[in-house]
Amino acid sequence: MDNMPIYNALLKYVKSKKVHFDVPGHKRNPKTELLKDFFNHKLIELDASSAKPLDMIGTPTGVIKEASQLMAKAFLSEDAFLMVNGTTAGVQNMIMSVLKPGDKIILPRNVHKSAINALILSGAMPVYVEPVIDDKLGIAHGVTVDGVKNAINNNLDAKAVLIINPTYYGATSDLKEIISLTRLHNMIFLCDEAHGSHFYFNDSLPLGAMSVGADMSAVSLHKTGGSLTQSSVLLAHRRHIDTHIIQRTIELTQTTSPSYLLLSSLDVAREVLINSGKELLDEAIELSEYARNKINNIGDYYVLGRELIGQPGIFDLDLTKLSIKVSDIGLTGIEVYDILRDSYNIQVELGDIHTIMAIVSIGDTRINMDILIDALIDIRKIYKIDKVIKTDFLWSRPHMVVTPREAYYANKKSVPLSSSIGEIAGESVMAYPPGIPIVAPGEKITKEVLEYIDFLQKQDCVLTGTDDPKLETILILGS
Ligand SMILES: Cc1ncc(COP(=O)(O)O)c(C=O)c1O
Repeated sequence: MDNMPIYNALLKYVKSKKVHFDVPGHKRNPKTELLKDFFNHKLIELDASSAKPLDMIGTPTGVIKEASQLMAKAFLSEDAFLMVNGTTAGVQNMIMSVLKPGDKIILPRNVHKSAINALILSGAMPVYVEPVIDDKLGIAHGVTVDGVKNAINNNLDAKAVLIINPTYYGATSDLKEIISLTRLHNMIFLCDEAHGSHFYFNDSLPLGAMSVGADMSAVSLHKTGGSLTQSSVLLAHRRHIDTHIIQRTIELTQTTSPSYLLLSSLDVAREVLINSGKELLDEAIELSEYARNKINNIGDYYVLGRELIGQPGIFDLDLTKLSIKVSDIGLTGIEVYDILRDSYNIQVELGDIHTIMAIVSIGDTRINMDILIDALIDIRKIYKIDKVIKTDFLWSRPHMVVTPREAYYANKKSVPLSSSIGEIAGESVMAYPPGIPIVAPGEKITKEVLEYIDFLQKQDCVLTGTDDPKLETILILGS
């Protein structure tokens, strides 16, 4: 218990039963049944606002500082910053801390929208490396060392390289080699580990970026580490980066009213990972391997597995992710994702053209896994049709004409989507999840982009990012 400073301070503070004339305004006194039911007594009690005993997130000197130091130690880094606005804030503060307007950053194009938006905020210039495309599975994996090497050699003035560890589907790139390259060229190595917080706690999983010398990493403890949604952590080594600059950058956008529910959940999740992470993750890997075998034996389904390790773009694979190719039953992953939710009450993380992805984590059970396996057996029996699902969508990314920031600040007008071919996009369009822009601000809209969007719309896929929620129109540059 000694190792959870925020949690302990919060419990003590709450137990002291202060008379509150501060925020939050519910005053731990839900007067209506609706609020009582919604909050649940314990939860509302723990919802406190910053106060001396609970420290200040902007300039931590007390329990938040202590908790940050423990977090840094757990994630093998020198500094850690607790975040309450998701890994979106982590990725954005990471990029804004090290890049000034006009600085170049080398990154794969299949980054999350938080990284593209960070380019708008920071004014950094993207140099995209193509991720390896798996045309049988219809998905993008990691990047190759040669791909990064070429980008570095053609952009020796680049300041940083950012890699995703792992991709949504679980593929990792050769971090050690890429980090050596960045060292050789005096570049900063940044990592988006939104889906990799568990890597640090079990040796059977791919390497955590900070353990092999990344300069910074944004890690979603809330996605796979067990903390509450939106809580996250930004890690840093001090080789290239001044801690004060990171703190100052975070201060630009961070709330002054951080949720102590989120902060204390980081304390608790970290402690659980340190004390029982290995065993819990062993169980998750075993469960995932059990499901992998069962699902591969159903027929027509294929779950990405160890056999892919070593292929270009798959240096290693996070076996806790069940990325399942389902399109050989004649349905898209988007359709299977919807069927699972609507007819079987199962919510998987992602559905796209050929695959669905189910996250297996420290909270899963064999009973739930069998429910998923049985549903997949059933779906194949009931829904299988003889139809070939196209694979060749948008394998060449749209060309960047102006930087995301230039596009963001340029004059824009709205035109019908159907007449936007050849124009420069003024906004992003993306399927959510995974939140990877199909077209980003500043990129040329192509026929392939429209075909892909049309396909996704017909699949009733949630498309976001545009002013027009129906996406009948799109913003383009011009007046
Ligand atoms: C690769 C990647 N980076 C960053 C994020 C942002 O994380 P958050 O939702 O915690 O803001 C996500 C979210 O899905 C992601 O997939």
